[in-house]
Amino acid sequence: MANEKKAADETSTKAKEKASKSSKAARGKAEKASAETRAKRSQTIAAKAASAKASKQASESKGLADLFEHALADMYYAEKKIYKSLPKMIKAANHPELVEALTQHREETAAQIEGLEAIFALLGKRAKAEKCDAIDGILEESESLLEDFGGTAAGDAAIIFSCQAVEHYEITRYGSMSAFADALGLDEAKVHLETILDQESAADSKLSELAEDTINDAAAEYDEDESEHA
Ligand SMILES: [Fe+2]
Ligand SMILES: [Fe+2]
Repeated sequence: MANEKKAADETSTKAKEKASKSSKAARGKAEKASAETRAKRSQTIAAKAASAKASKQASESKGLADLFEHALADMYYAEKKIYKSLPKMIKAANHPELVEALTQHREETAAQIEGLEAIFALLGKRAKAEKCDAIDGILEESESLLEDFGGTAAGDAAIIFSCQAVEHYEITRYGSMSAFADALGLDEAKVHLETILDQESAADSKLSELAEDTINDAAAEYDEDESEHA
C-alpha cells in the first residue's frame, strides 16, 4: 500500500516537473515571439514615421518665394495699421515741422500700401494682410508713451522716439524683402520695395534731424528750468 502511494507520488511529481518544464518552454517561446513582434512593430512604426515625415515635408515644402509672400502680407498689415495710427501722433505733435513731417509720411504710407498691392498683382495674387505681432507691439507701446508724455515738454521727443521704432522696423523688413526680390528675379517688385525703403529711410533721417536740431534741446531746457526752480 505504502509502495503504491510512493509510486503514485513519484509519478505525480514527474508529471508536475514535466508540466512545469513544458510551461516554461511555452513561456520562453511566448516571450521570444513577443520580442520579435515588438522588434517588427518598432520597425513598422519607424518606417511609417519616416514616410509621414517625408510626405509632411513634401506637403509643407516652403521656399524663398513663400517667405517673400509672407513678408508682403505682413507689411501690408503693418502699413495699414501705421496709416491708421498716424493721425493720433499728428494731433499730439506740437512742433510745426514735426506735424509736417508726419503728415507727409502719412501720404507716403498711403502710396506704399498701393505699392504693396502692385507687388501682389505682379505675383498674380490678391492682396492680403497677415497679422504682424511686431508692429502691433510697437504701436501699442507708442500709444502708451503718448498717454504718458503727450502734452508734456517731452511730448514731441516721445513721438519721434516711437515713430523711429516704426521706421527702423520697416527699414529692416523692406531691406530683407528687396534682397529676396533680387534673389527671386522679381525686378519690378524690387523697384517698388526700393522706392518704399528710400521713403522710410528719409522719414527716419528727418526725424533724427528734428530731434537732434531742436526738439531734444527744447525738452532738455525744460529739465534745466525745473532744476533752477527746485
Ligand atoms: Fe511705411
Ligand atoms: Fe514709415
